[in-house]
Order: sequence, then C-alpha cells, then structure tokens
Amino acid sequence: MKVAIIGQGYVGLTISSFAGEFFEVVGFDNNQKIVDQLNSGISHIEGVESSVLQKWIKAGRYIATTSGSDISDVGLVVIAVPTPLSKDRQPDLTYIDAACKAIGENVKNPVLVINESTSFPGTLRNYIKPAIEKYSKNPIEHLYAISPERVDPGRGDYNQKNTPRLYAGLTAEASERTRDFYSRFCDELVEVSSPEVAEAAKLFENTFRQVNIALVNEFAQITNALGLNVYETLDAANTKPYGFMKFTPSAGVGGHCIPVDPTYLATVAEEHGAPATFIRRANDVNLEMSKYVVDRVQADNGGSLQGKSVLVIGVAYKPNVADVRETAAELVIEHLRNRGAVVSWHDDVVGTWHGESSAPLSGAEIAVVITKHDAVSERDILASARYVFDTTGKVAGAKGL
Ligand SMILES: NC(=O)c1ccc[n+]([C@@H]2O[C@H](COP(=O)([O-])OP(=O)(O)OC[C@H]3O[C@@H](n4cnc5c(N)ncnc54)[C@H](O)[C@@H]3O)[C@@H](O)[C@H]2O)c1
Repeated sequence: MKVAIIGQGYVGLTISSFAGEFFEVVGFDNNQKIVDQLNSGISHIEGVESSVLQKWIKAGRYIATTSGSDISDVGLVVIAVPTPLSKDRQPDLTYIDAACKAIGENVKNPVLVINESTSFPGTLRNYIKPAIEKYSKNPIEHLYAISPERVDPGRGDYNQKNTPRLYAGLTAEASERTRDFYSRFCDELVEVSSPEVAEAAKLFENTFRQVNIALVNEFAQITNALGLNVYETLDAANTKPYGFMKFTPSAGVGGHCIPVDPTYLATVAEEHGAPATFIRRANDVNLEMSKYVVDRVQADNGGSLQGKSVLVIGVAYKPNVADVRETAAELVIEHLRNRGAVVSWHDDVVGTWHGESSAPLSGAEIAVVITKHDAVSERDILASARYVFDTTGKVAGAKGL
C-alpha cells in the first residue's frame, strides 16, 4: 500500500522511517529545501538515521515531495503538521487546514486519514473531516481516525516500537484499519472509545508535565528563599517509593509541546465553561522563571548587568537536539538585553539562530547555562566565565537554582 505522510518534521519523518519497512511512503512537505535534502538521503531529524532513509529510497519505498499530485493514488494518509499557538497564544489550526486542503484537492480514492498532530478534543470530527470534505471536488467517503504521537526526539529508550499508542476511529472500520497500520511497527496499541478521548489524553499527558514543572520551578524559588538546596531536597523526597514523581527545575519550559498543548486544553475547557486555573497559572510560573533566573544572576553580580558580557550556554529547548522552538533561552536573553547586558550565546548543536552564530565557549564575564548538551563538558562551562549560573543542575561547582 502507498501511504502519504503530510509533514516531514520530527513526527512525520519518524513515522516515515518506520513505515518504510512495510509500505511505499510518500513524504509530503511544503518546504522544498527539506524535500530536496530528504530525497538526497539526508535526515534532518535526530533519531532518524540517514542510512535508514537511504535504504528505503534505494528500495523504492520512500520519496519526498512538495507536489500534491504525488499523493493522489495513496491508500492511507497521516497528518503530522505543526499545531502551534498564534501570536495571541490561541490554538492555530492553519497548518491542519492546509494539510486538509492538500488531501481534499488531491486524494482521488476513499482512504483512511489518521491525524497525529496534537489538538483539542473534537478536532478530527468537527474540523478535519469537514475541512477535507469542503476541499474535495467530488464527495468522497474517507475513513477518519486519530492516533496522537508520543515521540520524544533524542530519547534512546522509547521509540515508535515500544511506546504504547492510543487510537480511535470515527467508525469501527476506521479503528480497525488504524490498528492494522500501526501494528506493523508498534508493539502495543490501545484503543479508546472515541477520538475525543485520545485527543484529550494526549493534551493531559503534556499538561501533567507542564503543571508539575511549574510546581518544581516554584519550589526552587521557595528552597532558595529558605537557604536549602533544591536538588538535595528533591532527591530526599524521591526516596519515597510511591506517590511521588521527581521533576527538576529549569529556566522555563520549551519545545513545541509542553508550552503549547496545555493552552489547547485550557482554551477548549474555557469554551465549555470549565475552569483551567492550574493550567493558566502553571504557564505563567514557567514563563516567569526566565525573569527569576536573570534576577538571581543580577543580584549575584553587584545588582546591575549594564555593559556586562553574558554568554548564554545551550539555546536548544532540551539537551542533544537542535530544536529551539519556544526555548526558555529566548526570554532569558531578552531579559538580559533589557538590563543592558551584552549577550552572546553558545550552542554548537543549534549552530545558527535568529541570524546569529554560536559564539565560542569562553571569554565572558558571566555565563548562564540553559541547556547542557552531552558534548559540552562541565569543565569547559566552568572555565567559560568568571561567574557561572547553571539552571540545569548538571554543572557541579556553578551557582544555580
Ligand atoms: N516533535 C515532537 O516531539 C512531537 C511529539 C508529539 C506530538 N507532536 C505533534 O506533532 C505535530 C507535528 O510536530 P513536529 O514536531 O513534527 O513539527 P515539525 O515542525 O518538526 O514538522 C512539521 C513539518 O510539516 C511541514 N508542513 C507544514 N505545513 C505543511 C503543509 N501544509 N503541508 C505539508 N507539510 C507541511 C513543515 O515544513 C515541517 O517539515 C504537532 O502537532 C506536534 O504538536 C510533536
């Protein structure tokens, strides 16, 4: 069977690399540069090996394309496009809409459409299905299902094969065909009673992390005020064998999921007249951490950052990936610059960002560690500036949360 995967980013390319073993995959992406790179056998996603891509290309089981006509004869379509927040921090379904347009205008036969993009409950039923029908020239009865993605880029222990996958179709046939598709490369499939349950579960998984991260970020401020070491205190709490799960503080949450998905849940909750107070407050606490970090750095440096050279170390949102979406480094740098600091950043995994290149890991008066990649040694970090503030808890000997 020929399968179209709409969006060849973290989620779509990962699925393509697994599906290529069993299906003929058409990776549809509207970014020509990414498509050209993929067709030359080079993966741009951590966790997807170029050698795997090359194997499928050679076997005639993978092609990337920007052309809608290449998906006209597929039997199954997976949607894996971004679901970010708009400028006013509202759910932004414009990418989903564009994907529905590509499907509606090009797919000629009835197919199974599976949505893997994260969105609020009701998106499949009330948004994706009507949108595809609206864009189709001839009425076609497609099948529709949801299977939220749980990939964690850069993670070694869990992948598509051993991470249980939720799914639900709008009809029993859609559910059955969804199970058939994923069971080729996923060990454990969990069917739920409706697409809305799967959509809500996905949002709650990430909201659980967001709220707990906010709690530990607040706790870090409390322990500091009390003169206690937050890491020692958390390790002590973590000796309890049940009823506790350890989260660690940070300069804020980054990435495409934790700072974004809870707002999808809060928005739909409020639209239905339900409270989302924890979610909204957690978001504020996490966003305010960047200011707290800069306040601490300023207080330790004579109360002023004016004219001081500050090196921000690690601008990716998490270790060992190049992804800078929603990174906490952005707000930290903004606060530092607003206070007159002369800021540069070091992150050779990211390389270039906002038109600036990664600076050498040396020569600053002050260094603030936001993300510590494995390739960057503690020794080099400590030697990079006369004062080092570490928000990761991984640089022994530095000042920190
Ligand atoms: N990255 C993760 O770890 C992760 C985990 C779980 C869920 N998700 C969710 O999966 C979805 C995709 O996220 P991602 O991280 O893969 O995003 P991404 O930005 O890495 O990739 C999306 C790709 O879609 C392409 N694209 C955008 N609009 C398109 C269109 N109309 N037609 C074709 N291609 C289009 C972009 O060029 C890009 O290559 C989001 O809803 C996200 O929340 C992501």
